[in-house]
Amino acid sequence: MKKFAAAAIAVGAAGALVLTGCSSNSRSTAASSAGSSAAAKGFAADATIGVALPQKTSENWVLAESLFNDGLKSAGFKPLVQFANGGVTEQQNQISSMVEQKAKVIVVGAIDGSQLGSQLKDAKSSGATIIAYDRLLKNTDAVDLYIAFDNYKVGQLQGQALLDGLKARKGNGPYNIELIAGSPDDANSAPFFNGAMSVLEPKIKDGTLVVPSGQTTIEQVSTQGWKAENAQKRMDTILAGTYTDKKLDGILSPNDTLGRAAMTSVKQAGKDVPVVTGQDSEVESVKSIMAGEQYSTIYKDTRELVKQVIATIKDLQAGKDAQVNDTKSYNNGVKVVPAYLLTPVIVTKANAAQVYANDPTLAPLTK
Ligand code: BGC
Repeated sequence: MKKFAAAAIAVGAAGALVLTGCSSNSRSTAASSAGSSAAAKGFAADATIGVALPQKTSENWVLAESLFNDGLKSAGFKPLVQFANGGVTEQQNQISSMVEQKAKVIVVGAIDGSQLGSQLKDAKSSGATIIAYDRLLKNTDAVDLYIAFDNYKVGQLQGQALLDGLKARKGNGPYNIELIAGSPDDANSAPFFNGAMSVLEPKIKDGTLVVPSGQTTIEQVSTQGWKAENAQKRMDTILAGTYTDKKLDGILSPNDTLGRAAMTSVKQAGKDVPVVTGQDSEVESVKSIMAGEQYSTIYKDTRELVKQVIATIKDLQAGKDAQVNDTKSYNNGVKVVPAYLLTPVIVTKANAAQVYANDPTLAPLTK
């Protein structure tokens, strides 16, 4: 597990950025891309805060909506929380409208992190602070902070869970597996996949794992829009084409929705349920894990993530520096975005009760 020293970062309206190391008193100006005027610190305690969420492609996003509304309201702010179910253009318009409504902070969970450049630039010029939420905003310097779970770590945990599950459930290898990745427009899909492949690739090379479809690149295995039907269709095709005389032992799935879709496909093909990974701790998947079907998921407690974002907004409101714990991992193509990364947790049937003990929705499912 990566361990970070927490640091504080002053986020300036004009793009000025001051990093403060926690172990020394020295201050250094790390970057100043848009002029050198001093940061206008603080804003009204009842300011409007915009939260632009993507489509409802998994339960975590739905949960985030009410947590942001309730949490921002009780902190005294005026929340403006919107989904962009219609796609990228809708999200672009929503951000522009948040700027018009003078939002002081705009939190963005992007559908496509590369397509919001001009709206974010306008937002920065208006003096707003931009926080990338869960998904990185790419190819723009108009992003101040990234607050998310450690995505690469999520992938590593998934890769390791697949290996552990195969060993526990499928006897000795070699094992036949197939790979699934997330949507190509989501900035998280690559770190998830690359993290997993950092664990699986050596095992493919040494012959422990075999991918009979031959599809091993992220381009070949991605799932447009994170849609269950797309993952299911692809798996149907692979099973019909490659598995007539083979068993399928395992599936790397980047999240629960796609993992369940893949399991449906395998069951419909009349095959034994393979070892399937996931992410998000969705209710149906936790039930499946407890029933001994899906092997693993990841717990990324949305309550903790939203809490961290709101604490950051409160700090900014009060003119304080925002907390960050990683200043090197997330290069968005233009700059390294200072990040606050939370730690994801792997969940199997063995530790579910313990991991979900304080989650009122999931704890009862483990009893
Ligand atoms: C999130 C995952 C989620 C996926 C689909 C990703 O960006 O990090 O938790 O499963 O989007 O909604």
